[in-house]
Amino acid sequence: MQIPFNKPYYTGNENDYMAQVMANGKISGGGEFTTRCQDFFKTKYGFNNSLLTNSCTAALEMAAILIDIKPGDEVIMPSYTFVSTANAFVLRGAKIVFADSSPLHPNLDTETMEGLITPKTKAIVAVHYAGNACNMETLLAMANKHNLYIIEDAAQAIDGYYTFKDGSCKPLGSIGHLAAFSFHDTKNIISGEGGLLVINDEKFIERAEIIWEKGTDRSKFIRGETTSYGWVDLGSSFLPSELTAAFLLAQLAQLEKIQNKRLSIWNHYNNLFANSNFETPNIPIYSSNNAQMYYIVLNDIERRNHIIEHCKKAGINTAFHYLPLHQSKYYNSQHDGRDLSNCTRFANSLLRLPLYYDLGLEDVEYVVKTII
Ligand SMILES: Cc1ncc(COP(=O)(O)O)c(C=O)c1O
Repeated sequence: MQIPFNKPYYTGNENDYMAQVMANGKISGGGEFTTRCQDFFKTKYGFNNSLLTNSCTAALEMAAILIDIKPGDEVIMPSYTFVSTANAFVLRGAKIVFADSSPLHPNLDTETMEGLITPKTKAIVAVHYAGNACNMETLLAMANKHNLYIIEDAAQAIDGYYTFKDGSCKPLGSIGHLAAFSFHDTKNIISGEGGLLVINDEKFIERAEIIWEKGTDRSKFIRGETTSYGWVDLGSSFLPSELTAAFLLAQLAQLEKIQNKRLSIWNHYNNLFANSNFETPNIPIYSSNNAQMYYIVLNDIERRNHIIEHCKKAGINTAFHYLPLHQSKYYNSQHDGRDLSNCTRFANSLLRLPLYYDLGLEDVEYVVKTII
């Protein structure tokens, strides 16, 4: 038996949607399918202002430009995250101040991070690891008190929700000033490469569209609001082609079906591990579960290596990440030397198990039996 770690799921309508784009005769970005995707996000999650991007990385880079990151600014984020979370801000000259993870979850430890804020701090990046919400109420209070931006790195968080203490509930991506999603192959909803920038703070709306369109006011021109367009600000090629948007729309049309299937797989894993000694995901009470990934946390790196090898021999491909960014070759000399022990624990001992739409429940049983 061979069980890959990930297998992209195709709804069956992607070809048809992409053929429509080709028949329309406009395959570059910003056309009908881009608008239809953005409308989907408006209707489903109330993201009134969003822009499709080439990746979550691109959306984070746009966020860094929008909040005017300059050399000397400090940005706080978890060390346990993907390199793009940091790179987007380093590209604009920011100093990254890495925070530790919570002891119970790879997300930011909001109990201990307020001391990292200085007069130079401009933003906190809240990475919703595994699609599980960060403690947004604590982060929002910190941001209000110190006048900071909150950027949600929601790469893994599509269809995730946060429940506030008063019982109200909001989709992840709608809470910070800006938010970035990913539609990379390993995510719940995919377009190969792809992403979304959500603009919640209205003061960024006009500039976001300009940055998206290579620093020009072309979008205004297309809407007939100006007679010509030109270079008005910083920008880059952040918008994806209509082919990518068409692929994405086919996926979005089946979001509920995809989410239900992934949740049933996730729950099956969790039930099967329930009576074992393995540490399983600890989902905070204020967070929903979007079934982005299933992981177990082992005692140490030796135990993890042993299980990875054992699974490989049984035909099961597992994965781990991230190498802590504060210890990375590129950035360790700029880290201030603080020990981030929860981050290193997750980096050394978290193991991701296969989770994709076509994974059978009997495959899940085989994986769990092999590991136990
Ligand atoms: C937390 C986080 N941020 C950003 C990214 C970058 O996403 P993309 O590949 O769409 O650029 C990833 C990728 O998996 C991620 O996990």
